[in-house]
Amino acid sequence: MKEINLTTKISVYLLEECNETEKKLIDAAKQAAGNAYARYSGFKVGAALLLENGEVITGNNQENAAYPSGLCAERTAVFFANANYPDRKIVAIAIAACQNGKFTTEVVTPCGACRQVLLETENRYASPMKILMYSEKGIYVVYGIKSLLPLSFGDEMLKR
Ligand code: THU
Repeated sequence: MKEINLTTKISVYLLEECNETEKKLIDAAKQAAGNAYARYSGFKVGAALLLENGEVITGNNQENAAYPSGLCAERTAVFFANANYPDRKIVAIAIAACQNGKFTTEVVTPCGACRQVLLETENRYASPMKILMYSEKGIYVVYGIKSLLPLSFGDEMLKR
């Protein structure tokens, strides 16, 4: 028997330690969270994508009375970007959430389905994204969704 250890490197930043581009992206995610349609959970999430040409695309969660018909902020943003700018690489994503009018004190991390969609997008553009997960206490930063999705299933599996 042998064991395999998987490790993830997470950089933790204070907002003031982020560069201007990162601050702008986090700000856009926070703004987008305010426009979320989250009448069932009250958990408003915003996602902001930085495209390779510097353009910022935002999305937020869109809930539905038939719960599974809703969609997370990350996928709303990524699908919009992929639908409208199919030739533009996404280089970074920032995610922020608020509840009861306050931004979370714990970082908001993408759900499993969003991680899978982010993996597909990274593979599509052959380019890992910088992922910034915001909280009022600090910001987790990882490079590439595989950091959050070990032993992932991607297109390379289908080519075997
Ligand atoms: N949600 C997101 O939009 N992104 C995440 O990363 C986690 C969860 C949404 C889905 C649902 O509308 C609400 O947050 C509560 O789960």
